[in-house]
Amino acid sequence: MRSPKSAAAAVAALSFLVLAGCASSPSGTGASPPRPQVAYGKPITEAQLALWNIDIRSPDGRGLPAGRGSVAQGKQVYDAQCLSCHGPDAKGGPMFGAMVGGIGSFTTNTRVLTPGSMYPYAPLMFDYIRRSMPLTAPQSMSADDIYAVSAYILHLNGLVPANAVMDAQSLTAVQMPNRNGFIVDDRPDVKAVRCMTNCK
Ligand code: HEC
Repeated sequence: MRSPKSAAAAVAALSFLVLAGCASSPSGTGASPPRPQVAYGKPITEAQLALWNIDIRSPDGRGLPAGRGSVAQGKQVYDAQCLSCHGPDAKGGPMFGAMVGGIGSFTTNTRVLTPGSMYPYAPLMFDYIRRSMPLTAPQSMSADDIYAVSAYILHLNGLVPANAVMDAQSLTAVQMPNRNGFIVDDRPDVKAVRCMTNCK
């Protein structure tokens, strides 16, 4: 992102994101993250760019923001912002199936895909929710609300107690049941060689 060329590309990409972004305003509790005001031909600052730099690393959770939220707060966030599509208690709604249950099903012929059954690390769920949920207003939620709703979904999956409070540390420490369920693809013909510059 340092060269003028790539900075221009970033501005173009970000402008597209803003144009394509949803105009609806967040309806939840807590302050929304600031939205970068970017436009074609307007140089972007490092501070503006930082607002888009939201990836979270597994397994150590690097990139998780400050903030915290409890299961009880998460239920409030969930009922206000998620229930309409995901149903009561995350058991499934008009837009998506259950986000509870299914733990252990990946070793059977009837996989049930839920955050509890699939995600190897809990920070992945934070990252997913922050980027894309609620579907109609992605990236509108405060860090506290995302921690809270993550705590609630983990609790509904039986993975944290009812009095759990999630923050960068406690979320990273949650042992997800499928943590060791992903295997390295060792077929020789699909071997990927890591390459960052001058790649073939
Ligand atoms: C307008 C409907 C809508 C709303 C509101 C909504 N979601 Fe979703 N959600 C979806 C859809 C559709 C998907 C599936 C997206 C896909 O597979 O590409 C999804 C997927 C998810 C997933 C991934 C589930 C999995 O098993 O992989 C999570 C987690 C999630 N939503 C959490 C939330 C949370 C938390 C909220 C509230 C803050 C929320 N959603 C609000 C429609 C919605």
